[in-house]
Amino acid sequence: MKVIKKVLIVLLIVLVIIQFFRPEKNIADQPIAAFFESETQASAEIVTILESKCYDCHSNNTKYPWYAEVAPISYWIDGHIEEGKEHFNVSDWASFDIEKKEHKMEEFVEEVEEGKMPEDSYTWIHGNLSDGEKEKIIEWGKKVRLSYKREMEGK
Ligand code: HEC
Repeated sequence: MKVIKKVLIVLLIVLVIIQFFRPEKNIADQPIAAFFESETQASAEIVTILESKCYDCHSNNTKYPWYAEVAPISYWIDGHIEEGKEHFNVSDWASFDIEKKEHKMEEFVEEVEEGKMPEDSYTWIHGNLSDGEKEKIIEWGKKVRLSYKREMEGK
């Protein structure tokens, strides 16, 4: 009993101390997806869907929930954002060449079609795409990919 009590006290102290440390926030002050949205001709409806379900992990601007302030959750969330941005970041779109853009849109369609994105850990709290939303962004994603493909082939 004594040992358990000591362990709990140490754990509590550690939890309090780590509250003083925070990962750097993913918050940009410039428009975060303007180039991506205009080049891909994303309608207001598409933008709304992407904003609410994808940009938190795939742009330079995350809308943080309150519990993101609490360590160690803050670090866990930060890990997902960093990894997500590494694979697909709409804020970097202007720096990609056409092959990369085409490939990223291919992955975009695949991930959504297979129901892999948004990640499960996110949908538990933020909800998933509705069937209608899913259909809309897949259709748009395919169109965008095709237009990059045509551009690559010089047609
Ligand atoms: C909670 C964070 C999070 C959200 C929200 C999220 N993603 Fe991701 N996404 C990730 C992570 C982490 C990876 C990299 C690991 C992986 O592929 O599973 C990733 C990878 C990707 C990739 C690249 C896959 C590859 O093969 O490299 C695409 C494309 C993608 N996501 C699209 C989306 C779309 C579209 C949405 C919204 C419908 C979305 N994601 C929402 C975290 C997220």
